[in-house]
Amino acid sequence: MPGGDMNYIKQEQKSFIHIITINRPEALNALSIDVLSELEEAVDSVKIDETRCVIITGMGEKAFVAGADIALMYPLSKTQAKEWSLNGNRIFRKIETLPVPVIAAVNGYALGGGCELAMACDIRLASETAIFAQPEVGLGVIAGFGGTQRLSRLVGVGKAKELLFTATRIKASEALAIGLVNAVYPAEALTGEAFKLAEKIAANAPIAVRATKKAVNEGLHSDIGSGIEIEAEQFGLCFETKDQKNAMAAFLEKRKPEPFVNA
Ligand code: CAA
Repeated sequence: MPGGDMNYIKQEQKSFIHIITINRPEALNALSIDVLSELEEAVDSVKIDETRCVIITGMGEKAFVAGADIALMYPLSKTQAKEWSLNGNRIFRKIETLPVPVIAAVNGYALGGGCELAMACDIRLASETAIFAQPEVGLGVIAGFGGTQRLSRLVGVGKAKELLFTATRIKASEALAIGLVNAVYPAEALTGEAFKLAEKIAANAPIAVRATKKAVNEGLHSDIGSGIEIEAEQFGLCFETKDQKNAMAAFLEKRKPEPFVNA
């Protein structure tokens, strides 16, 4: 498969679903330069025409990602730290704007850059053992991979500032209550539930799912008038496709549609 197994990333394609596993359990999957660059390689290798959903998870039972690598960051100068932040942000933005939906299966600690990685995904499912935090102010720095931007968009400005200012760790149940995650499952059920959700997404018309992601994402950063223009553009692009004709004809003829063909 494209990219194949790397040192710190495992990849698997199961029918239309591409699974990326961050594989540095000895450091709780902390994001080093190598982990980040392999993650980027993995994201770049997703074959959009053959993939309808991506799942990102962490290796082991303890951590999704315990943050950016603190040993690596310790000696950085102001300029190097800015570069590090820009690079991580660039890669996370690639995940956020990947044409197909991305599910984070948060199987343990999601701290700092780990919480930020989960937030760059479209949907977050967590195990009951997951713990979330943006602990950076306790380390003398701020969230640097999008945390100051995405947390407030997801949970509201007040709650985001509370979490960012206090570095408080929250359990999966609280993450669910504030809307940081979509659902929580027993640890042993998480992978299966993430896959089930991915399959549910994959069963729909791929062009329409991709258009939906684009419209929601781009609309979020626009005024309502521009957002509606974006929606209309994406709505139009779904028409005259085989999948649109197939599904609408099936409805009109009171039968099930043929499987979608991504065309
Ligand atoms: N960076 C580097 N190494 C890390 C790490 C990180 N973020 N998190 C864990 N590790 C390493 C530990 O150093 C340790 O390595 P050794 O065995 O070689 O000593 C190994 O992973 C296991 O960790 P612990 O022994 O600490 O495990 P624990 O069960 O006692 O504690 C933990 C688990 C609470 C997650 C703890 O490891 C911890 O607090 N980690 C740091 C979490 C953190 O602050 N993350 C934010 C980083 S800042 C950031 O991400 C900035 C940004 O926005 C870009």
